[in-house]
Amino acid sequence: MTFPERFQNLPEYAFPRLRSLLGDLKPGGEPIQMTIGEPRHPFPAWVTQIIADHADGFGRYPPNDGTPELLDAMSAWLGRRYGVPVGPDRVMALNGTREGLMNTLIALCPEQKAGGTPVVLVPNPFYQVYAVAALTVGAQPRYVPATAATGFLPDYAALPRDVLDRTAIAWICSPANPQGAVASRDYLRTLIGLAEKHDFRILADECYSVIWRTAPPPGILEVAHQMGADPERIVAFHSLSKRSNLPGLRCGLVTAGPQSMVRIRKLRAYAGAPLPLPLQRAAEKVWADEAHVTANRALYAEKFAVADQVFQGHQGCAAPEGGFFLWLPVDDDEAATVRLWTETGVKVLPGSYLSREVDGFNPGKGYVRVALVAQKDEVQRGLTRLRDCLMT
Ligand SMILES: Cc1ncc(COP(=O)(O)O)c(C=O)c1O
Repeated sequence: MTFPERFQNLPEYAFPRLRSLLGDLKPGGEPIQMTIGEPRHPFPAWVTQIIADHADGFGRYPPNDGTPELLDAMSAWLGRRYGVPVGPDRVMALNGTREGLMNTLIALCPEQKAGGTPVVLVPNPFYQVYAVAALTVGAQPRYVPATAATGFLPDYAALPRDVLDRTAIAWICSPANPQGAVASRDYLRTLIGLAEKHDFRILADECYSVIWRTAPPPGILEVAHQMGADPERIVAFHSLSKRSNLPGLRCGLVTAGPQSMVRIRKLRAYAGAPLPLPLQRAAEKVWADEAHVTANRALYAEKFAVADQVFQGHQGCAAPEGGFFLWLPVDDDEAATVRLWTETGVKVLPGSYLSREVDGFNPGKGYVRVALVAQKDEVQRGLTRLRDCLMT
């Protein structure tokens, strides 16, 4: 039997890699998990009751795109968040954003661009499904450094013209996982201008859009709307996982131009895994409620303050502009991760597990990613131990 070539160079996923790295090594203190971006604040308590009230829905196949009520709630949320009218016909429910990121690229990436294999621009480091989706359709991922030198966002405008001409899709993640950088309105305007000039689509992953420090991050939808850009060029993704501490509910959304939505819906009608009906009923109420989101943000604000206080005087360690990860500079990511675990029991993720080496340079190698998801006291203990172990 043969196996596909296109996934041959795919590294093991980050978390199994971390397990292999740490193997049987014993923690040097009470274990503190700061690896995975799994929110640990409480989700709204009323969610459970809604699921129970609609449990008979487990006996039915759910509507593929989302119930009309859920689509209305998502569309209303986009309107509130970005001040842009996005009708329910331009929204679809996802079984978690991750599958939507994958399926949307499959639905929208053409076989050819400018007479050759299409290029998919991927910020480096990045949320891993971006590259796998590109490989799945036989496109060529182009990993573009998103380092301190570029404000931790990819400088797509600096790419050679022939690469941009062959680009079919550009991924952007803002607030960025893992660096926490937020794309400004100017950045997004430039990116949309570039997409118009070179005729590519932008797939904007904005899953962390409501977890911010000082001001709500601008969204691609509002900037595109202000510019009068072709809505078919822009696709945006959001998630209840981070917004509402419901990673297990598996509810995200995708919004795109009308023709793109037709393509996305059609593909997902064949291959998608719709959200079970009782969960759609709960999700509908969660998207409609902002009080828990505000309370959630306040909990992160407390932890951002803790991070700033712990790392006072340490350059490059400030709390993120958005999202809930610290992207901390270290000499060697794997060595630092092993040392931290064996000396203190704090577990973090090596940065290079989220990035690719290109021309001998791996932009994640000098960083570890630290998730600020635990309760404040635990975060304080974890960060203090990390600082004392790695930075003094
Ligand atoms: C940048 C980014 N996009 C998408 C996702 C997927 O979110 P969901 O739980 O909605 O699938 C994550 C989850 O960690 C993420 O960090």
